[in-house]
Amino acid sequence: MERLDLLARIGAVGADGGITRPGLSTAEDEAHALVAGWCEEAGMAVSRDRAGNLYARPSGSEAAAEIWSGSHLDTVPSGGRFDGALGVVAAIEAVAEVAADRPGAPLAVVVFRDEEGWRFGDGCFGSRCLAGQVGAEDLARRDSAGVSVAEALAALGLAGPPVEVALPAAYIEAHIEQGPILASAGAAVGDVAGIVGIAGFDLTFHGASGHAGTVPMADRNDAFSACAELALRLRERALEIPGSVATIGDVSVASPAANVIPGAVRATVDVRAPSREALDAIVAAVPALASYAADRHGCSVDATRGWRSEPLELSGRVRDAVRAAAAGLAVPIAELVSGAGHDAGVLADAGVDAGMLFVRSLNGGASHRPDELSDEADVAAAIAVLAETLRSLL
Ligand code: GLV
Ligand code: MN
Ligand code: MN
Repeated sequence: MERLDLLARIGAVGADGGITRPGLSTAEDEAHALVAGWCEEAGMAVSRDRAGNLYARPSGSEAAAEIWSGSHLDTVPSGGRFDGALGVVAAIEAVAEVAADRPGAPLAVVVFRDEEGWRFGDGCFGSRCLAGQVGAEDLARRDSAGVSVAEALAALGLAGPPVEVALPAAYIEAHIEQGPILASAGAAVGDVAGIVGIAGFDLTFHGASGHAGTVPMADRNDAFSACAELALRLRERALEIPGSVATIGDVSVASPAANVIPGAVRATVDVRAPSREALDAIVAAVPALASYAADRHGCSVDATRGWRSEPLELSGRVRDAVRAAAAGLAVPIAELVSGAGHDAGVLADAGVDAGMLFVRSLNGGASHRPDELSDEADVAAAIAVLAETLRSLL
């Protein structure tokens, strides 16, 4: 918990304690350096790959068929102190403990770069580099300040992909649940069956700017009204598709002013669903409803599809090990599906036996917010389950 407090001081910290540590920023780098020091104190040898992912291996560990545990250290804007960081500090504890009684065991702590993806519009950058999924198009993406992924990597002294690191035999990521299910079930930890599919869009509504006082309502081409219409229609559609969710989380009006009709609006759309069928349905709704909304307000719209990850099941071998470990330690556990994306999903998709161990969230499951919280006793229970799971996967 002390280490989470120390990490929570790195980056831009708001008055409410919210942390902003963007992926591929110097703040993320600083967090990596702090964690590297903790790994070295725990007797591990630290290295990093061309994408800046960090690996920490207990001294003398064998190189073949490694079992990895870890997570990420970047945050959303004004995020909490557990998302990502918890899985990193838990992995250091569990790997060090297991390595102490199993010298030479092929274990590693891993910390992936830019998991959140909001800065450049595409998540799980580090793990996707490892899986060979990052190409020239991804490196050309730019953040809101005009900095490209390639430039951000270069500024940190990183060569960027291709990353030539062998994938592990298995990966297990501890993570705060970020929802209310474990608390309702009375479970300290979660057995994660799968991860929802996620798709992103970038939209621009084009209308006509004009004087806020002189253009009659009936004659307007208000790009913000079109965007608002889409938000409400998309909410209705998501409610009709079981398990699907849709979010317009980043909206900007071009040349904004209180007395100017919005002439152009840029917006992101994030849609998610637990089955491929439901994801297809909500994905199809986005351009269709965007055109309808644009039309209703005398505007046009450009819709660009961003990334898409399919819903997936996590490794049965890792899930069995997690459940057996929890049972052996008498830690109450419940099954659930993750509504958040994770690096574990990228590794599972790449053929690794990848799984997750969730830790009960407090505060009603608040996450991607400063008041994100887990109880110290639950964190301790999760670290014990994680260590036992690593032992049984070796
Ligand atoms: C990552 O936290 C995501 O699911 O957006
Ligand atoms: Mn996370
Ligand atoms: Mn997150």
